[in-house]
Amino acid sequence: MADIPDGELYPVPQRLLDPAQCPEPYISSLQQYKELYQQSIEQPDEFFGKLATDLLTWSKPFNRVRHGGFKYGDVAWFLDGRINASYNCVDRHAIENPKKVAIIYESDEPNQSENITYGQLLRDVCQLAGVLRAKGIRKGDTVAIYMPMIPEAVTAILACARIGALHSVVFAGFSAEALRDRVQDAQSRLVLTADQGRRGGKTIEIKKIVDEALKSCPMVETVLVCERTGADVPMTPGRDHWWSQEVSRTPTYLPPEEMHSEDPLFLLYTSGSTGKPKGVLHTTGGFLLGAAATVKYVFDYHPGDIFACMADVGWITGHTYIVYGPLALGATTVLFESIPTYPTPSRYWELIAKHKITQFYTAPTAIRALRRLGDEWVEGHDLSSLRVLGSVGEPINPEAWHWYNDKVGKGRCAIVDTYWQTETGSHIVTPLPGAIPTKAGSATLPFFGIELAILDPVTGKELTGNSVSGVLAVKRPWPSIARSIYGNHQRFLETYLRPYSGYYFTGDGASRDKDGYIWVGGRVDDVINVSGHRLSTAEIESALIVHHAVAETAVIGANDEVTGQCIHAFVCLKPGLASGHSRAFANDLTKELALQVRKVIGPFAAPKRIYLVEDLPKTRSGKLMRRILRKIVAGEADSLGDISTLADPSVVEALIAKVKSAA
Ligand code: PRX
Repeated sequence: MADIPDGELYPVPQRLLDPAQCPEPYISSLQQYKELYQQSIEQPDEFFGKLATDLLTWSKPFNRVRHGGFKYGDVAWFLDGRINASYNCVDRHAIENPKKVAIIYESDEPNQSENITYGQLLRDVCQLAGVLRAKGIRKGDTVAIYMPMIPEAVTAILACARIGALHSVVFAGFSAEALRDRVQDAQSRLVLTADQGRRGGKTIEIKKIVDEALKSCPMVETVLVCERTGADVPMTPGRDHWWSQEVSRTPTYLPPEEMHSEDPLFLLYTSGSTGKPKGVLHTTGGFLLGAAATVKYVFDYHPGDIFACMADVGWITGHTYIVYGPLALGATTVLFESIPTYPTPSRYWELIAKHKITQFYTAPTAIRALRRLGDEWVEGHDLSSLRVLGSVGEPINPEAWHWYNDKVGKGRCAIVDTYWQTETGSHIVTPLPGAIPTKAGSATLPFFGIELAILDPVTGKELTGNSVSGVLAVKRPWPSIARSIYGNHQRFLETYLRPYSGYYFTGDGASRDKDGYIWVGGRVDDVINVSGHRLSTAEIESALIVHHAVAETAVIGANDEVTGQCIHAFVCLKPGLASGHSRAFANDLTKELALQVRKVIGPFAAPKRIYLVEDLPKTRSGKLMRRILRKIVAGEADSLGDISTLADPSVVEALIAKVKSAA
């Protein structure tokens, strides 16, 4: 069995429990957490029924809290309840306090931030929703959103929710081909986009990418183009319309569509074990409750706080923790268009000081990168407003955790290492700031209603008690779990519910240490996590294989000090090209192959290393042995294990030499 990790316990910082310094945490002791957790498991109907009534506004109350389960994949929450997510995120706060700031937009250039009040947001959302309606979008339709990090991206999401259209946000770092696949899969008839984007001082040609993608999307009838830079971009007559012109002639109020709790709210594509990304489907009531409840309890959000999640709205973290969670609670949410190092590596810390941010949420990859650049960038900034520092997307190594805690949090803040996934909708394993002592590198304990199980990967048997390692699963549904894969419920069942019958399978390996704390180790399937971006090896292989010179490829994830994992690709060339090529030919081809991946998926998926090899390690039956490639890249060629099952064991020597010469 693998070694069980462990670490020192860090108590809740005293400052958080001192009413003179901080608002009293909602959950302020381990005992209180344990009692509530127990209640959430033993009396889920009462627990979640009350939470859903307290945190959300229903236009018709639900009459049953839960239904269905993992056996048939027919999970449903808050049955017969009627609710609209945009009403919950906008109207009810605009009615109460229209002048309250909903969004602080921190533009790429630091001196151009802008505040959008709830009153303004309501008008913006209603107008855009009206435009969508006028363009023929109805409840149940899907709308693709391919936008930079500007306030209109939030408006776009909420306008879809207002009329009951499913939004399908595609991260604007994806290529035209990736966007095309997602528009086609969801059959979106309308695309919301912008002329250009700005990021780290650079211009991103958003509209050009959309035009390229839509060449093979005849189903798209309308494109609305938001003016981010005002650049003169080509507009296709009849199809493309300027956002500002359209909204300006639309009324500033449109009643929200009354939705059933289980009506779909959105789909979001994510990578799995196969080459084809899947549209993870979330529904309305349960998702919104998960988002609101975790912002309240995991970030200990109190009225007046300024909440800042540094993710992109194109990923689930942006959906849940920039848009739905904070806005459902009537919070002020920060929308950050730039990168942590622009114009200098002090950008995050300047942002915190400038807006008096209370909760700050980022990924270990950013923390590691900033740590490497030196402490001087973080020193001298007033970070005293901070109470909770969040981490998400990948395991956080203890060095990065300590730096975050000491240099950013000054030992006065709670660190919440939040474990969750696109499919879980909201946090499932996480500390609670005022209640759960932390360990550097552990996501600690389950959130309310999450009954975890560590399973033996081979037998599927649950490993009970402490000091166990296996794969991480969940035993029963919680409100914000995804309900399906768009258009393919069977695939949903096969991916998550069938591998271990009766459980939701996360795809991650994990240990429970001697104190019952959870340590997530990383994916056990063919998913790679690069800078918190989720990619599948098969997806990258499919991108490479379409290149005319490529016969076969194998992609693996290797450890990387900054990005967590990075991509190494082994490529066999077609006969005739395979051997005897010059170094210049090899260099050119490697560049072309990297470009190929950027073109098919996006720049963030480009392999760090590409090896042109003669052969791959395969068994006699033709099965690729990725394990061997992983070991070679990790420099563990002396512990390859049994290679006698390989069809040609001599391949290994050549691969070792190749990897060594590339290092
Ligand atoms: O491997 C886990 C890792 O990210 C995966 C989910 O990726 P995605 O759906 O893109 O969502 C990312 C943001 C929630 C998980 O299967 N992961 C996420 N958070 C953590 C993590 N691994 C360890 N610790 C975390 N806190």
